[in-house]
Amino acid sequence: MHASLCDLITDLVQNSFEADATEITLNIEETEKNLNVIIADNGKGMSAETLEKAKDPFYSDGLKHQHRKVGLGLPFLFQTAETTGGTARIESEENVGTTISLNLDPSNVDLPMFGNFATAAVTLMTYGFNGNLAIKHSVNGKSYEVSKNELAEALGDLNDLESLTLLKQFIASQEEELGTL
Ligand SMILES: Nc1ncnc2c1ncn2[C@@H]1O[C@H](COP(=O)(O)OP(=O)(O)OP(=O)(O)O)[C@@H](O)[C@H]1O
Ligand SMILES: [Mg+2]
Repeated sequence: MHASLCDLITDLVQNSFEADATEITLNIEETEKNLNVIIADNGKGMSAETLEKAKDPFYSDGLKHQHRKVGLGLPFLFQTAETTGGTARIESEENVGTTISLNLDPSNVDLPMFGNFATAAVTLMTYGFNGNLAIKHSVNGKSYEVSKNELAEALGDLNDLESLTLLKQFIASQEEELGTL
């Protein structure tokens, strides 16, 4: 189950990791009227047929969860949009990449809670993934950007305990500036 939108976002970026992407961008733009999330990757992409199947909650490629052939990421994406009057779109091309956009009304009462993005960002930045992940988070016009490549350059191995502490502090300070913490 998805407890929060941050869980959903984490799942979608994880799909990009699993699609062998080397460049992923995650852009979250929040205003009082709009919550916009765009995730773009240059991974293996999906054929039209796979994409159709992937929207179905009873389809998953069957390789990952041998006992649960049910994917959660994309079905929850569409379900969240449908139940709250928002929109979810996927554009994907095989061997080129995938772009997912989600547009939601933040005031809709059926919207799942947003969750803690600072924690989600740290999880994503320290995930065992060799490519680059660039995150931009913007709230009512204020924003910050951070990329995995820049972080690794400044902090070294992000799974090193000291670097991890600095990473957590850095993300928390950026989120504090946005007023989310
Ligand atoms: N960014 C992407 N690039 C390429 N294929 C994707 C991408 N996102 C999803 N897919 C395809 O869609 C399928 C369904 O994705 P979904 O996240 O719903 O389930 P899953 O990843 O298979 O399982 P789960 O997320 O529950 O661990 C994936 O198995 C994969 O084949
Ligand atoms: Mg998934």
